[in-house]
Amino acid sequence: MILDSFGRNHNYLRISLTDNCNLRCFYCMPEEEYEFTPASRLMQPDEIESISKIFVAQGVNKIRLTGGEPLVRKDAGKIILSLSKLPVKLTLTTNGTRVHEFIELLKEANIQTLNISLDTLQSDRFMLLTRRDQFKLVYDNIQLLIRNGFQVKVNVVVMKGMNDGEINDFIEWTKDTPIQIRFIEFMPFSGNRWTSNKVFTWQEILDLVQTKYPIVRLDDEIHDTAKKYTVPGHAGSFAVISTMTSPFCSGCNRMRLTADGKMKNCLFSKEETDLLTAFRNGEDILPLIQKSIASKAKELGGQFTADFEKVHAEEIQNRSMITIGG
Ligand code: 5AD
Ligand code: SF4
Repeated sequence: MILDSFGRNHNYLRISLTDNCNLRCFYCMPEEEYEFTPASRLMQPDEIESISKIFVAQGVNKIRLTGGEPLVRKDAGKIILSLSKLPVKLTLTTNGTRVHEFIELLKEANIQTLNISLDTLQSDRFMLLTRRDQFKLVYDNIQLLIRNGFQVKVNVVVMKGMNDGEINDFIEWTKDTPIQIRFIEFMPFSGNRWTSNKVFTWQEILDLVQTKYPIVRLDDEIHDTAKKYTVPGHAGSFAVISTMTSPFCSGCNRMRLTADGKMKNCLFSKEETDLLTAFRNGEDILPLIQKSIASKAKELGGQFTADFEKVHAEEIQNRSMITIGG
């Protein structure tokens, strides 16, 4: 078991495969001239497998692959297949642009659920947000996944004045489509132009949805980051990830590995532990993992509180989202 000083058992590992991405979402990428990490500094497939096994031996039973965009990595398929042999629930967060190339492989790897990031249902706004003209591809790939029996969760980062006007369009999409829409409160990361007045809160989301639809709260599952709801009669459901106004840190079971092999005990942690260098030097990395988790802060990396209006993004010491992996 990997326990922290608050008794939280860490059995969920999120591994970023690359900080590279084929989209340019402004809230995730720090700036235009961002340089991606060279391949030699990334964990290699055999290293990912060996390091994952060390975590699995300590009780990790769920692994999520993230990015950047995990599927732009040339050996993504190989990594997915190797991890699918471990006794874990394997899943993926992707921007959906390459999913059509991976459908059979995802089936072979027995992946059942995928999270797809899609912040707008309007093609021109997609272009504005991501600086790439790929809305239709992503939208079609979501339908493709559903037709192929995958459970799809759609991550929508809600930003005031940007896409908050589309919340009920997303709810309408759940009417006949068996998807879960997950509205995520906009979070501050290095260089992502976050200000507190761009946060569209959980309460504001619910108020807006209720102007048009009756909603029912669904039961939370243990370790859930999302508060779940459904509109009676709809095929799909929706949820809110209220990191900023109501953090869910007390049930946290998550650990993160960046693509260059640094462990983060929290999405907002300042400190990182270099597992890859130690692993390459032949050191036992378990004590490093234990030590990292032992020092985990109670909430939000110890960097701010749910009083989000007082948060100043520039005071938070962290990486940009694209190098953490969400
Ligand atoms: N705030 C909230 N969510 C974010 N994501 C990326 N950056 C942010 C941010 N600043 C989301 C992505 C993706 C997931 C991994 O994290 O949209 O769905
Ligand atoms: Fe790429 Fe996802 Fe970041 Fe957008 S949010 S730039 S799709 S990694």
